[in-house]
Amino acid sequence: MKILMVCLGNICRSPLAEGILRSKSPNIIIDSAGTAAYHVGNSPDNRSIEIAEKYNIDLTNQRARQFNSHDFNNFDKIYAMDSDNYSKIISLAKNQKERKKVDLILNETFPKQFRSVPDPYYGGEQGFENIFLLINNACDIIAKKYDKR
Ligand code: 4NP
Repeated sequence: MKILMVCLGNICRSPLAEGILRSKSPNIIIDSAGTAAYHVGNSPDNRSIEIAEKYNIDLTNQRARQFNSHDFNNFDKIYAMDSDNYSKIISLAKNQKERKKVDLILNETFPKQFRSVPDPYYGGEQGFENIFLLINNACDIIAKKYDKR
């Protein structure tokens, strides 16, 4: 099983989703990407690194990259953090098979509700605690579903 986590910059939300899911799922291959290129090559935002550290998850080896159309072939499941990025990914899909791989991560926790993990970039620390908990709950469900040998 190969899972890709996608947000806008690949420095706040999707690096957390990658690190959290990896900590729960030794048998899943996990990566993350951003739909935008602004932060390509950068480490995760310090606020994401710090909230992850608090829960013993290390994000410091991650580097941002941009989502591209090969990702539809390379991954079985593509989770968008919010509805803007979901729409962007869907717009890049070439066929129904590719579209079927894409979902909003919070649809795992709140089925068919199309909720978004809020963009924490311009907010404070409380925002990162909030997104950590949202992503952590979703990853518990994803790990149960897909972390099989
Ligand atoms: P992310 O957060 O999509 O969770 O990585 C953001 C990071 C950077 C920007 C926006 C959101 N930005 O505008 O640079």
